[in-house]
Amino acid sequence: MDYQVFIQEQVTAIQSSVGTGRAINALSGGVDSSVVTALGHRALGDRLRTIFVDTALMREGEPQRVVELFAQMGIPVEIIDARDEFLGALRGLTDPEEKRHAITHTFYARVFGQAVRESGATHLLHGTILTDIEETVDGIKRQHNILAQLGIDPEKEYGYHVLEPLATLRKAGVRELARRLGFPPSLAERIPFPGPALATRIVGEVTAERLQTVRAATAIVEEELADTPAFQYLAVLLNDKATGMRDGKREFGQMVVVRCLDSVDARTATSVDLPWPKLHRICERITAIPGVNRCLYDMTPKPPATIEYV
Ligand code: XMP
Repeated sequence: MDYQVFIQEQVTAIQSSVGTGRAINALSGGVDSSVVTALGHRALGDRLRTIFVDTALMREGEPQRVVELFAQMGIPVEIIDARDEFLGALRGLTDPEEKRHAITHTFYARVFGQAVRESGATHLLHGTILTDIEETVDGIKRQHNILAQLGIDPEKEYGYHVLEPLATLRKAGVRELARRLGFPPSLAERIPFPGPALATRIVGEVTAERLQTVRAATAIVEEELADTPAFQYLAVLLNDKATGMRDGKREFGQMVVVRCLDSVDARTATSVDLPWPKLHRICERITAIPGVNRCLYDMTPKPPATIEYV
C-alpha cells in the first residue's frame, strides 16, 4: 500500500464529508487517535477542535505530555478536566462491563457530548481500526470506542456524524502512517493502551486512591521494560489483599500483578521470559508503593487469559 496516497485520500475524504462544517475529535495520546488528529488537522486546520479528556484514568503526566507533543507539531489540544465526573460514574461499580459502560456513557453522552454541542461540530473523527471492528463483531470484547456496535446512533443521540479514517487498517499500518506523518518513534512505536485506560487495570472498584496505586505501578513497569521488544507490558491492581510485614508490623496489603507479553495482533499472546534480576527489581520497586506488599508475575498466555484483567 502507498501510505502517502492513503494520507491524501483520507484528507480529501474528510474535507468532502465535513464540507464547510466543523469537526471535533478526542485525542487519548495513543497512536490511533494521534494519527486521526494529524489527518484531521491536515484536512480541516482550525475547523477541527481536538480535545483531550482528563478522565482521571490516565497514566502519570499523560495530559501534559500529549499537549506538548502536539504543540510542537503546531496542533492545539484542549484539555477538559472531567476527573470528578468519571470517578463519580465509577463509584461503587465492580463488574467489568458495568465499568466499561459507565466510562463510555460519561465520555460520549456527557463530557464529549457537551463539548460537541458547544463547538457546533457536525462530524466526529474517530480512531477505530479494523481489529476493533473485528473483535467487537466476534464478541471477544465490547470495545469502548465503537458507537454503532454499542447500539448508539451518534447522529440521533449526540447530533454528529462519525468518520473513521483508519477503519481499514491494522495496527502496523497505523504505526507506518504515524511515521509518515512525522510523529517521533516514542509515539509511532508506543505499546497499546486500552481506551478505558487504567480502569482495565483495576479489579474491583475504581477509586482515586486505587488509581494512584496502579498509576505508580504502571510508571514503574513502563520504565523498567521500556527497552524490551515486548508487544505490551502492564501492571494490574487486584481486589484481594494479603498479609505481609512492614516495619516489623503485620500489614494487610494490596497485590499488584505484572504482565509482559509477546504478540502480533493481541488476539493471542505469550508471556515473556523476563530475566530474574529484572523481575526482582520490578518487585522491589512495586512493593515500595504505599499499601502494596505483594508483586506477582503473571505467565498465563492468551488464551486462556486475556491481556487485561478487566
Ligand atoms: P484483551 O484484554 O482483550 O486485550 O486480551 C486485547 C488488546 O486490546 C486492548 N484492550 C482494549 N482496547 N478498549 C480498547 O481500546 C478496551 O476496552 C480494551 N480492552 C482491552 C488491550 O490492552 C490489548 O492490547
